[in-house]
Amino acid sequence: MKRTEIGTSIKKAKLLLDRSEIVSIPTETVYGLAANGNNKQAIAKIYAAKKRPLSNPLILHYKDASSAFKDVTIVPKDAETLAENFWPGPLTMLLPKKQTIPDSVTAGKKRVAIRVPQHKLCQALLETLAYPLAAPSANLYGRISPTSPAHVKEQLNKRIPYILDGGICEKGIESTIIGFENDTPIIYRLGSISIEEIEACIQKNIRLKNKPENNQEVLTSGMVKHHYAPNTIMLSIAEKHEGKNLENCGFIGFDTLHPDFPNENQFLLDENGNLDAAAKELYRAFHIMDAKKFSSIYIQFLPDIGIGKAVNDRIKRAIQKYNS
Ligand code: TXA
Ligand code: MG
Repeated sequence: MKRTEIGTSIKKAKLLLDRSEIVSIPTETVYGLAANGNNKQAIAKIYAAKKRPLSNPLILHYKDASSAFKDVTIVPKDAETLAENFWPGPLTMLLPKKQTIPDSVTAGKKRVAIRVPQHKLCQALLETLAYPLAAPSANLYGRISPTSPAHVKEQLNKRIPYILDGGICEKGIESTIIGFENDTPIIYRLGSISIEEIEACIQKNIRLKNKPENNQEVLTSGMVKHHYAPNTIMLSIAEKHEGKNLENCGFIGFDTLHPDFPNENQFLLDENGNLDAAAKELYRAFHIMDAKKFSSIYIQFLPDIGIGKAVNDRIKRAIQKYNS
């Protein structure tokens, strides 16, 4: 395939998608790799371009809640309330799918993941389309999610024809995934909308089920340990590093430089200590620090509140890759 083009033309993106091609699209969380969600051939191209296992289902993106709910058979009361509060926005809901949805979208599962994204350019594109967009994050399988067109191109150059440039993603962390088991809400992936916000919205305590239980199939790739990791070894700064030569090590910190590392080896997620701003920078920090080829990267956890929990979840998985 030819070099991947980056541009801001909705018309061009639509033309390609209408022809069953795949296009990278901006969303407020991370860039997606999109195809016509009603078209099996187009969907197959997503799996091929990402080298993603066919067992890992895709999220369908809709222009509004009413079109999203038309594709499912049951909408619990809480799902309605959540949609009213958080759509358009970074919340994905798992609900029982209608038969009309191709099995390749859901990898044969009975529930489909639906979401109404908030990004203006993405919304404008969805408005012009007669179908929802199936879209996973626009990275190669197992690699870091991209939050800018340049990061998409780094991984998918010549594997896709077009990247719709919507700038840097506002949130920087994937959407929160919620579903219902016997009407009880359960979070399967921590994300841009915090548990606290969801609990306040539906006035219920919510269970978190983002690790595979004994013998349970891996429900979302967010549950896979090694996900979200750079290639460089990542270690928690809380672990012992005294006596080690840190000249060739990187440090990703929250808001304060670390005295043990050379300043030029450090990346602060947000100097002002703002959690949202830090979340927006996390994957960019992974990308940039990975490219510096340090012997290892030390990283600091954020305060474990709000979106800090979702960031810490990604950091934990990145570190665990090297501890398992
Ligand atoms: O913020 C986001 O959610 C981004 C943007 C592009 O919308 N998308 C994203 O997609 O992160 P992806 O495929 O990288 O992660 C979606 C997760 C996967 O772990 C997948 O296994 C899970 O959602 N998922 C999708 N459909 C599912 C289903 N029917 N049942 C269970 N898990 C599902
Ligand atoms: Mg992903």
